Amino acid sequence: MLSAEQNDLITRTNPGTAAGNLMRRYWQPAALIDELSGNRPVKPVRLLGEDLVAFKDDKGRYGLIGRHCPHRGTDLAYGRLEDGGLRCAFHGWLFDVGGKCLQTPAEPDNSKMSANVKQKSYPVVEKSGILWAYLGPGEPPAFPHFDCFVAPGTHTFAFKGMIDCNWLQSLEVGIDPVHTSFLHRFFEDEDPDKSYGRMFRDTSKDSDMPMTKIMREFPRPRIEVEPTDYGFRLATLREIGNDKAHIRVTNLIFPNAFIIPMSREMTIAQWHVPIDDVKHYWYAIFTSFGAPVDKDKMRNQRLELYELPDYIPRKNKSNDYGFDAHEQAHTTYTGMGADINVHDQWACESMGQIQDRTQEHLGTSDKAIAAYRRLLRRALDQSGKGERPIMVLDAAAAQTVTGPACVDGIGPAGDWQGYWQRTDAARHETKSWNGH
Ligand code: FES
Ligand SMILES: [Fe+2]
Repeated sequence: MLSAEQNDLITRTNPGTAAGNLMRRYWQPAALIDELSGNRPVKPVRLLGEDLVAFKDDKGRYGLIGRHCPHRGTDLAYGRLEDGGLRCAFHGWLFDVGGKCLQTPAEPDNSKMSANVKQKSYPVVEKSGILWAYLGPGEPPAFPHFDCFVAPGTHTFAFKGMIDCNWLQSLEVGIDPVHTSFLHRFFEDEDPDKSYGRMFRDTSKDSDMPMTKIMREFPRPRIEVEPTDYGFRLATLREIGNDKAHIRVTNLIFPNAFIIPMSREMTIAQWHVPIDDVKHYWYAIFTSFGAPVDKDKMRNQRLELYELPDYIPRKNKSNDYGFDAHEQAHTTYTGMGADINVHDQWACESMGQIQDRTQEHLGTSDKAIAAYRRLLRRALDQSGKGERPIMVLDAAAAQTVTGPACVDGIGPAGDWQGYWQRTDAARHETKSWNGH
């Protein structure tokens, strides 16, 4: 249980807040590259409570600048993309990707006014299908050499979706390895061969047991939390008999992401990034260690569930997440269909816009959540004192932050550590993009 002050401290990320200052020390996802393609690559972006506009200029450079024109305050998201920048539709002022004012065409010919105008702008970089932004002070940190960032573009696919609540609720669901046995329970298993691109429908490695069966039949796992250079690793162990255990290795990536196995072939790296204190986006990079990702199939699967342009889930609070009492009695635990994103969406949003953590009761099975809050409080403390928190990496350190191991398999209960280490090493030795 937290005090109201402690809850505010760890959830609020607008400019000037302690957690806002901390989150600004890291690259954050600002848009999908998909959103900045097409005829007019201009996209309003609200990020950490700041109103911005992302665009790609006529030379192919990406920019992220303040949304309101510094002349009279109109909305640059309606601007004209031309002449090496974004031009305000009100009086034609032109801004480049760095926020520099290039022209003030209604001013006298000899005016020096544009030299004195600088629009807010933030560094951006394209990586693995996402446009990343750095909203913090000084030089941005280096990107860790995680698989999702070093895999070739053919083997990653990025997507996003809006969640109507504070970012921390979703992060804390993502690092809760127990809820899958309940929230995502299916009373019957389906053919794993039909599972492409979907979570928890494959079999676990080294077995022919569907993940859904393991989750359903073994709901009381042991959880081990191991600190790492990127946050922590979780090992979730379900003893299934005959000296065997289901071993699932997942990772918290500080400050606002996790990396988990999705299927035998793919992992998901997922960020939960505040739009503001009461809304956020998940951004996921799906990384394949086997065949190239079928991006069209992955995109179309997800576009059935999310509505453009804002990536709002079609099943949501306004339609009870598709809740059906008959389904809940016979098919799924939630009665909200087979898409697990809907289940998670309901879990996160139904806690309220900002969960009131003064009323919660964390148990033993919530130990990863408690571990994360300790990590967060330590980093808040360090960043408040001007020290460098975990994962603010320089180029040399970034090269050593790799992987991370993601495993979902059945191995010897007595040697579960050896099992996941061998399994992870073998995957890296045999991955299809070795030598890339
Ligand atoms: S308000 Fe943008 S140019 Fe005047
Ligand atoms: Fe979930």
